[in-house]
Amino acid sequence: MKPLLIQLHQSDPEAIRAELLAGLAAEPATIAPKYLYDALGARLFAAITELPEYYPTRTEAAIFAAHAAEMARALPGFATLVDLGAGNCEKAARLFAPFGVQRYVAVDISVDYLAASLEGIRHLHPHMELAGVGLDFSARLALPPEVGPGPRLMFYPGSSIGNFTPEAALPFLRDVHAAAQGGGLLIGVDLVKPVAVLEAAYDDPLQVTAAFNRNLLANAHRLAGAEFSLADWKHVAFFNRAASRIEMHLEAVRAVTVRWPGGERRFAAGARIHTENSYKWRREDFAALLAVAGFRDLCCWTDARNWFAVFLAKA
Ligand code: AVI
Repeated sequence: MKPLLIQLHQSDPEAIRAELLAGLAAEPATIAPKYLYDALGARLFAAITELPEYYPTRTEAAIFAAHAAEMARALPGFATLVDLGAGNCEKAARLFAPFGVQRYVAVDISVDYLAASLEGIRHLHPHMELAGVGLDFSARLALPPEVGPGPRLMFYPGSSIGNFTPEAALPFLRDVHAAAQGGGLLIGVDLVKPVAVLEAAYDDPLQVTAAFNRNLLANAHRLAGAEFSLADWKHVAFFNRAASRIEMHLEAVRAVTVRWPGGERRFAAGARIHTENSYKWRREDFAALLAVAGFRDLCCWTDARNWFAVFLAKA
């Protein structure tokens, strides 16, 4: 069946410019992590997932490979799978058979990218109902009625929930609960673990993560005209134990002045731009968060080292 494609998010270059420049002028300076993912950034992130040090992707995949059938038995009867941040749709496609998916709704910021992925799915699953929705759900998740009625199994893998602060994760999960329409949620969550393991995953010796982080400056230049010399900035990543999060920053290696149309900011040597947080949860704390968001009958699967968890819950 031909995929239904709906683009709801319209990018507004002026709003993007204003957001980026406000972040650069703020104290501390910030650039939102969504700007990490331009075309090159998306490729660099894909390379990160291949690094030996970046354990989340392969650990989560191993949990699904070992337990998908058991997961489907724990929460049977949902023919619709809604994939939040679907990208190339690869992770969701592995669930089609065990979960008996008949309708697949891929959600990501741009439906253009989803269209190509959904074409691939259509070849392999010609009878499946397919929809692609272009939506920035980090702001608000509300699916259009055209995607069909629930109940829906909402799928949010990859520990992307870790890129929300706990305060922002709760309203997001409440939105997911509402969108499930009596269905459920399958979500991957990265867990607290030894600091050395965490820090190596975000500061790899090949420096792919450093390139991913510094590429943000090239993107900020394109989107907001801020003039960065990439050689002036170095990647810094560390685990902030009190906040239970990896923080990524870009640090000025010498005193620099960043200029943009209509403004500038001076950064002393050692000054930082905060670019991303990646929260690491304790299993029981995330279970409590899901319960507060309205989910019940929680099941959880982890790997042997307890590094990563996949939760399944009823909405
Ligand atoms: C997309 N997200 C779950 C990744 C993470 O681990 O927080 C982004 C990332 N940043 C640096 N490496 C990977």
